[in-house]
Amino acid sequence: MSIRAGFLGTGSCLPEKEFTNFDMEKIVDTTDEWIQTRTGIKSRRIADDQTATSDLAYGAALKAMEAANISAEDLDMIIVATITPDMHFPSTACIVQDKLGADNASAFDVSAACSGFVYASTIAKQFVESGQAKYVLVIGAETLSKILDFTDRNTCVLFGDGAGAAIIGQVPTGGIIATDLGAKGSGGKFLTVPAGGSRMPASQETIDNRLHYISMDGSEVFKFAVRIMASSSKTVVEKAGWSVDELDYLVPHQANIRIINSAGKKLKLPPEKVHVNLDKFGNTSAGSVPIALDEAVRSGKIKSGDKVVLVAFGGGLTWGALAVEF
Ligand code: COA
Repeated sequence: MSIRAGFLGTGSCLPEKEFTNFDMEKIVDTTDEWIQTRTGIKSRRIADDQTATSDLAYGAALKAMEAANISAEDLDMIIVATITPDMHFPSTACIVQDKLGADNASAFDVSAACSGFVYASTIAKQFVESGQAKYVLVIGAETLSKILDFTDRNTCVLFGDGAGAAIIGQVPTGGIIATDLGAKGSGGKFLTVPAGGSRMPASQETIDNRLHYISMDGSEVFKFAVRIMASSSKTVVEKAGWSVDELDYLVPHQANIRIINSAGKKLKLPPEKVHVNLDKFGNTSAGSVPIALDEAVRSGKIKSGDKVVLVAFGGGLTWGALAVEF
């Protein structure tokens, strides 16, 4: 009998400090009304100076391991999806491995921006189903506040910090039935941190020109997102052999309520079947889907046997979807 991979437990970790739209009004030329009507966001969490991405990743990992009832020694692999690693290297996954004492686990990061958790879960599925790993810890974690330009109202109001995690391992029935991953590198320029890599190493000039912060063409990303969220969801549902009517729940990337509503409408899903938490947390990039998933599982919205699609889009440009039977 072939092995099936699925989610054995989930967890999340968010910084305590809330930063509301009213706080944002005090530092940049914006209003709570504009942010809420254009994005659906009311607040977000911001990490303090001492907190790095690996700290949130570690917190989420502990909760996912507890939910799956496994210990650090049981882990065969740790994959961290992030665009805000603690540093270029070592990878954030290696830092988390050390913190956990997961000495039997290999560890690496995945860079697929907001689609990172879906990419990393797809990789984990291959290792579990090929018999090469029993338990894989997959984490989506970000401290985006560290790369936000708080003088740029086009970007700083959209993002927040947080981490979500899952243990992927063998399940008796259901599990991750189908996956859909994609990329469109030609659109990479629409969402980027231009400097700090080998193309444009850090210099006084790059710092003066604020090139170490997120820069974005919002309307191009918006157009892409609206199209891809619905099409990738449809593709993965078809690959799973399901129809959209059978879906119990959609866990979409939390970027903008207008993007989520448009995807829900195109898929003809009623709003109660679509998970939304961006009002509280904003866009936490790779953290977004696993935080929303953890919330939906712990609140009982997702139940055993439910057919669920997780779908994300992000920088790269990238996208990905998972069809999961819980
Ligand atoms: N507060 C007040 N006004 C703002 C603002 C803010 N925070 N940000 C932008 N504006 C202004 C703009 O400057 C523009 O003013 P102008 O017409 O005088 O130039 C006006 O609001 C309208 O801008 P527009 O770009 O048309 O707004 P929009 O309705 O397209 O919404 C985004 C902008 C960024 C919210 C939207 O394009 C979006 O969500 N894009 C996708 C971003 C995303 O998801 N990124 C992450 C991907 S993982």
